[in-house]
Amino acid sequence: MADKIKVLISEEELNKKIKAMGEQISKDYEGKTIHLICVLKGGVFFTTELAKRITIPVTFDFMSCSSYGSDTKSSGIVKIVKDLDESIEGRDVLVVEDIIDSGRTLSYLLPMLEQRKPASLKLCTLLDKPDRRVCDVPVDYTAFEVPDVFVVGYGLDFDQKYRNLPYIGVVEND
Ligand code: IMP
Ligand code: MG
Repeated sequence: MADKIKVLISEEELNKKIKAMGEQISKDYEGKTIHLICVLKGGVFFTTELAKRITIPVTFDFMSCSSYGSDTKSSGIVKIVKDLDESIEGRDVLVVEDIIDSGRTLSYLLPMLEQRKPASLKLCTLLDKPDRRVCDVPVDYTAFEVPDVFVVGYGLDFDQKYRNLPYIGVVEND
């Protein structure tokens, strides 16, 4: 039977917030080129929507890291599945994530990227679940804070499903 999904953040709310965030980032980085690093796969919808709202030059790269398993809770073991194609040395890097949950992924990823000597390194996330934080992560831009519920849509999956939903929803198992 198909899962029932309750809308938590509507498409309209997402569009409005991402537009405002794109404007803010364009101001903050004025005169520079932003190198956006999309964290696959979850960050892909947010990255493309955000990039469309940024009015200064943007370049892209992609990386993929996973915590093992398809459980709804991260295991804490982070694996780089796909590394960046290009060097980030001397570039103004903005990492784009779908959600910060325990913070384990980013607390592994950010120091690793910092070692590659970017001119600047900032973090932007669509969603933040502060109640679940285990590792402290410095977040520069957050679109929405969400409660401690498992969310799907706009890039976020449950067992690889629902990434294509144009809103953020909660799966209701009954
Ligand atoms: P971390 O716990 O901060 O390391 O987050 C690891 C990853 O778990 C995130 O980048 C997401 O891909 C995934 N994740 C965490 N919470 C959720 C959720 O509510 N829905 C879907 N994926 C999630
Ligand atoms: Mg992710």
